[in-house]
Amino acid sequence: MSHAVTCTAPVNIAVIKYWGKRDEELILPINSSLSGTLSQDQLHARTSVMARADFASDAIWLNGKQESIENPRLQNCLREIRKLAAAKQTHQQGAPLPTDKVHICSVNNFPTAAGLASSAAGYACLVYALAQLYKVGDSLAEVTKLARVGSGSACRSIYGGWVRWVMGEAADGSDSIAEQVVDEHHWPEIEVLILVVSDHKKTTSSTAGMQTTVETSSLVKHRADKVVPQRMEDIQNAIRARDFETFGRITMQDSNQFHAVCLDTYPPITYLNDVSRGIIDMLTKYNAHKGKIQAAYTFDAGPNAVIYLPRENVNEVVNLVRHFFPPAVGAEAAFVRGFRDVPAAPVDA
Ligand code: DP6
Repeated sequence: MSHAVTCTAPVNIAVIKYWGKRDEELILPINSSLSGTLSQDQLHARTSVMARADFASDAIWLNGKQESIENPRLQNCLREIRKLAAAKQTHQQGAPLPTDKVHICSVNNFPTAAGLASSAAGYACLVYALAQLYKVGDSLAEVTKLARVGSGSACRSIYGGWVRWVMGEAADGSDSIAEQVVDEHHWPEIEVLILVVSDHKKTTSSTAGMQTTVETSSLVKHRADKVVPQRMEDIQNAIRARDFETFGRITMQDSNQFHAVCLDTYPPITYLNDVSRGIIDMLTKYNAHKGKIQAAYTFDAGPNAVIYLPRENVNEVVNLVRHFFPPAVGAEAAFVRGFRDVPAAPVDA
């Protein structure tokens, strides 16, 4: 007998960045973080999982190519899910046995590992699908913990809307969970533009980069202890009040500080390129010209820009980007308009 589930999960883009772990194995962060979950229509991972007693071994295919199942993060997720499945007193009706082998097939509809949070959507989707398959993870909070051990930022993709990942204090990670701040209907005027500056694989992975940062940067400790706690408060208040001026300022400041911390790492990590810096410059001048914040940039571990902005400013900003970064100068800006909406969800296979 076979059991199968297919799910999709969206990308999330942090406005208060997660950067640095206090526990590498459990993926416990040194600071809390906050993100917006993008529309499933635009950028998502889609994952099918199938368990059968007669599969010889676990196996995974990513974007059509078979990959090693031995990836430690993947193994952590599978182990935790099976542990929960085995712990259920009675065998769950319609669920596979924890000992059954599983085949996983996952596809992203956007460039993998180009600083577009592919691991977040990928692990959120995988864990959500496995939790459905094995009928474990009784609350979404529980599922966010399972997603976290795959990739830290993945825990935030379990919810739609605006989501915080509370760093927690417990050594076993039991209180390091993601929570929804407000849902996708709270601030429908906000849109997201993604300017794909480069779709090449990034040179320093987030995992390796943040490890070197924690080992070598003195700035990151100041950031985690003294800066982020207040920013988390302030940005949540701004989101609740739909105050774009405050939201936009904190978003840009936090992106700037994250990349400053990367530069304070030794050897330094540079994710931004000349086009990224040009986009920052353009939006800074645009906001100054208007006398208020009209659009806010943020950059993850790559050169691509994500711009949060009220819908009424989209056309103007798109025109500015087309004018200053035509494809001929190598910007290769592509536009993705994203409304934030539903979280990880099962789909009909
Ligand atoms: C810059 O979640 O990819 O996107 O936990 O090691 O898998 P691991 O790292 P990952 O790091 C994301 C870093 C970031 C900021 C963010 O999304 O908060």
